[in-house]
Amino acid sequence: MNYYFISGTSKGLGKAITEQLLKDENNFVFGYSRNNVITHKNYYHKLIDLNNLEALKKIQFPVLNNPEKIVLINNAGTVGDINHVGDMNNDQIIACYNINLIAPAIFTNNFVAAYKNILNDKLIVNISSGAGKSAIDGWSTYCSAKAGIDMFSKVLNEEINIDNAKFKVLSLAPGIIDTGMQTQIRNAKQESFSNINRFVEYKKNGDLASAEETASKVIRFLAEQNLQQETICSVRDL
Ligand SMILES: NC(=O)c1ccc[n+]([C@@H]2O[C@H](COP(=O)([O-])OP(=O)(O)OC[C@H]3O[C@@H](n4cnc5c(N)ncnc54)[C@H](OP(=O)(O)O)[C@@H]3O)[C@@H](O)[C@H]2O)c1
Repeated sequence: MNYYFISGTSKGLGKAITEQLLKDENNFVFGYSRNNVITHKNYYHKLIDLNNLEALKKIQFPVLNNPEKIVLINNAGTVGDINHVGDMNNDQIIACYNINLIAPAIFTNNFVAAYKNILNDKLIVNISSGAGKSAIDGWSTYCSAKAGIDMFSKVLNEEINIDNAKFKVLSLAPGIIDTGMQTQIRNAKQESFSNINRFVEYKKNGDLASAEETASKVIRFLAEQNLQQETICSVRDL
């Protein structure tokens, strides 16, 4: 059996990845988010708010029966409070870092601890963003959290090599996707986000990929070893 642990499976990209993986009866998915919409015999959902770090710390990775492949996908994310620094809500600053950066770091720490002695295929995929590579006004916490997850992944890759730990790690940018996150971006205030028209145009021009299309590309990165060579990668590399 192949085991997948995926955060943010209730909508958008995470839901689409999960639904595609569940078409193969050799796959079992553990999902984590505040809501659950998937019922399947090979799916287990843990309701959790990733902004609740005490709850997150208690999540344990199970002992697995005959694992062939074990994959962690840190997918859950939020663009957070779209505002210029000085006008931001402090609780939303904390939540944005918790969900986009602290939760993936804790999940990954516990995943590596749980499975480091298993010799089979093990992969950690952090869903990052182009926003971690370029500065976008109004998105200070999102851009910096995604830059953080890129660097976390690069350091982890160094450690895996030093420790000969037999994990692979990717920080994978998924491109722009037609999900709730893009709706929130288009609903921002112009004065808090000078790029808003560009994002309105993406939707109007049909430039946003569907969640299903992007999920198929992410799944290629899970399956094809030649796509697992560079830690920092993008679906645009395909
Ligand atoms: N959409 C894009 O254009 C785009 C571009 C670049 C990168 N990304 C990245 O792609 C990933 C998926 O984004 P998406 O577009 O699919 O977003 P989405 O449609 O808004 O879905 C976000 C998912 O994250 C979960 N989540 C959010 N806050 C959570 C919390 N406090 N606790 C637990 N789960 C939480 C949500 O579940 P609940 O609400 O049920 O908790 C949901 O399942 C994110 O990492 C995002 O940064 C997206």
